[in-house]
Formats: sequence, C-alpha cells, structure tokens
Amino acid sequence: MSNLIFYGCDTVELAKKYGTPLYVMSEDYIVDRCREIREDFLEKYDNTMAVYASKAFLTKEMARIIKREGLGMDVVSGGELYTAMEVDFPMDRVVFHGNNKLVDEIEMAIKNNVGRIVVDNIRELDIIEDIASKYGKRVNILFRVSPGVDAHTHKYIQTGQVDSKFGIPLDDDAIRTAVKKAMNCKHIDLKGFHFHIGSQIHENESYILAVRKMVELMKELKEDIGFITKEFNTGGGYGIQYKGDENRKNLAFYTDAIMNTLEDECNRHSVQRPFVIIEPGRWIVGEAGITLYTIGTIKEIPGTRTYVSVDGGMTDNPRPSLYQAKYDAVVANKYGEEPVKKVTVAGKCCESGDILIWDLEVPEIEPGDILAVLSTGAYNYSMASNYNRIPKPAVVMVSRGKDRLIVKRETYEDILRNEL
Ligand code: LLP
Repeated sequence: MSNLIFYGCDTVELAKKYGTPLYVMSEDYIVDRCREIREDFLEKYDNTMAVYASKAFLTKEMARIIKREGLGMDVVSGGELYTAMEVDFPMDRVVFHGNNKLVDEIEMAIKNNVGRIVVDNIRELDIIEDIASKYGKRVNILFRVSPGVDAHTHKYIQTGQVDSKFGIPLDDDAIRTAVKKAMNCKHIDLKGFHFHIGSQIHENESYILAVRKMVELMKELKEDIGFITKEFNTGGGYGIQYKGDENRKNLAFYTDAIMNTLEDECNRHSVQRPFVIIEPGRWIVGEAGITLYTIGTIKEIPGTRTYVSVDGGMTDNPRPSLYQAKYDAVVANKYGEEPVKKVTVAGKCCESGDILIWDLEVPEIEPGDILAVLSTGAYNYSMASNYNRIPKPAVVMVSRGKDRLIVKRETYEDILRNEL
C-alpha cells in the first residue's frame, strides 16, 4: 500500500494539512505546457501570440504564472479582467471576449488599454466607438465570426456552428456590413477576425475547415471592399485526457494543421498571412489539477450498486452533471492496490444528479479514505458554486515536491459576507 504522489507531494499529507475537498494544481505541469507553446508555436512561427483562456482556471497566482511565462490572457468579464489588473498583467497582451459585454466592462477595458476587444455583434461597435471617443483612444478590435463548422464535441461546448449565440454568421451579408461599419469608425481599428469552434476537441479537421472558410472571407473582403486582414485569432478548444478519452495531443497536432492550412490558403488566394493568435485554456491546466476528497458514507444496494459519497461534488465539479463528463479517480492512500469492486462516486448535494463518477473500480475502501479525482484543473474551480451553502474548497499549488496555498478555503462567514 502506498500514497499517491503528485509532482513530488504526498497527496494524503496534503489532505491532512489543508483538509478536503482540496484542489491541487501542478505548477510544473502548467509551466511545461507554456514551454511547449513557446517552442512549438511561438518560436516556430513568427508573427504569432498565444493567450491563455483564463475562464478555464483563474486566480491571481495563475495570472502571475501566465505573465511570467510570456503568454497573453483571454478574459470574458470584468472579473477576469480585474484579476489580471491586480497582478499588473501587461494589458496589451489581454484579449477581451464576450457575447454580451456590459457597457461598464467595455469602459473598463478601454480605460485600461486592453490590447484587443473581440466584437461579437454590431451593437457592440457603437458602444466601443462612443467610449473610445470619450477617452480619445483608438481601440483594436477583431470580429468574432461563426464559421459554420460543427466541431466533434458535446453540444453544450460547441460554438462554431451557425445556430449559436456567439459571433457574426459567415454565410450571409452580416459580416460585410459589420466590416464596412467598423472601417468607418474613427476610434476603432479593425484588425481582423476570430473564431472559436468549441472545446475538448480531439481532431484537427474542424480547424482546417474553419481556416479555409476564413481565408476565403479574407480574400473576398480584400477584393470587394479593399479590407486587409492583419490579425486572425483561431480560438482554443484543444482536448485533454479524462477517462477513456484519447490521450492529450501535442500542441503541434492542432497548431501545425492551423498554420500549414493558413499558409497554403493565403498563398493560393494571394492574401498576406496575418498575425495569428491561439487561445488554449483546458489544454494548459486540465491535466494539471486533481481534487482530493474524503470518503464518507458507503451505501451498498445488493445486486444494484454501491454508492460512495465524498465531501464535495457538483459544487466543486459541475461538469459530470452539466455535460455528462467522465472522470477517473484513484484511492490516494491505497494507490496501486488491486481493484476489487465497482462503485459509484456521489457528491453530498441534495440532488440525485450529483454523481461524480459512475462505475469506478476501487480496492477495498472504507470511510476516511482519500479519493483523488484526476484531470480536474480546468472548469472546476472556475465553475464552482455555493449550492446548498457549501463553501468552495481551497486551492494548493505544488511544484517539485513543495506545496503552497494559493486560495484559502471559504468559510461560512464568507458565504454570508454580502448579506444584510
Ligand atoms: N477562446 C474562446 C473565445 C472561448 O470561448 C473558449 C472557451 C476558449 C478560448 C478556451 O477553450 P478551451 O481551450 O479551454 O477548450 N465549461 C466548458 C467549456 C466552455 C468553454 C468556453 N469557451 C467545460 O467545462 O467543458
């Protein structure tokens, strides 16, 4: 019997020291992914930028790591932008997204010189023009286009299809009208276009298809109205490994496909290859994280199933109940022991759908054992809630055998903080 060691740290000791549930993030893993991005994308292709999609996992410490590693940051709200500002993140490396940015958020972005705003619809153009003129600034924008590509992923995290709340459809006149309008705005500098086709994507054909469509658009806009596309943001969406999924692919699987297609299509259509931005989120942090829980009630229904309840659940990981996401887990204090049965891991919320894992193979277990759910680094902490007034877990960062607390566990007082 041995304990699960995660990047040099004994997870059972971490559970004792900080309590459970506990998010544990590996800085070493994150730094490694950032290095891969530098070596296989930024240094391989000039005129490029990589921004981290901070919605996947954001804390001040995460923003500091991304800043130090030389990446930019994608934000989609005033709150994410505020977090970046709090650590003096270079604002020229920030890309501001959102399908319904509030006037206050747009003002915050312009006032603080955010590098690029990705405009989702024409209404936003007027708001930006107004605010930019008030501050006497010229704002760089890209248009978000929905390229009409169906990525092979869960429909709730597909975003590039025509029937989507995001972006301006590619296949009608809307995008031409928008480009013409932006070209006439005194305080707006339209740099180019953006698409994001979805998330947890394990193939590269959808990207190839979307790039082809976009270069065709660039060519048509150049010929029809003399608009030259200077920037092209190809979004994120690169998949990782959860349970029984394919392995996480190297970055180059996606970015080489994108860049090679782009170079070829630009040559074919005689348009200049624009500055390229990528926006991975999950791919950088997903496998960097695990969540530690303490096992409590074990309920055996003979001939049916065994429910093993843990001290967290859909409040710290809503993905299984939202997307039927599959996770894998190990018993951290019995690591390496032979599995003897299948159990269903349930959360503690007052909700039948609060199941983290169906049919997990485990060794002999008992209350007090520590369960480590794997690949919880993306869209867990960032999507956590206080349902049932359950406080959010602490977050610990580990690196080369050392651990440090980066977010304190919430208290009941924290939950009541704003109540009058
Ligand atoms: N860029 C844009 C414009 C996006 O909307 C997103 C994700 C990304 C980049 C980063 O995508 P990633 O590389 O992380 O796949 N909550 C869902 C995922 C929602 C993703 C929303 N947009 C989940 O837990 O699977």
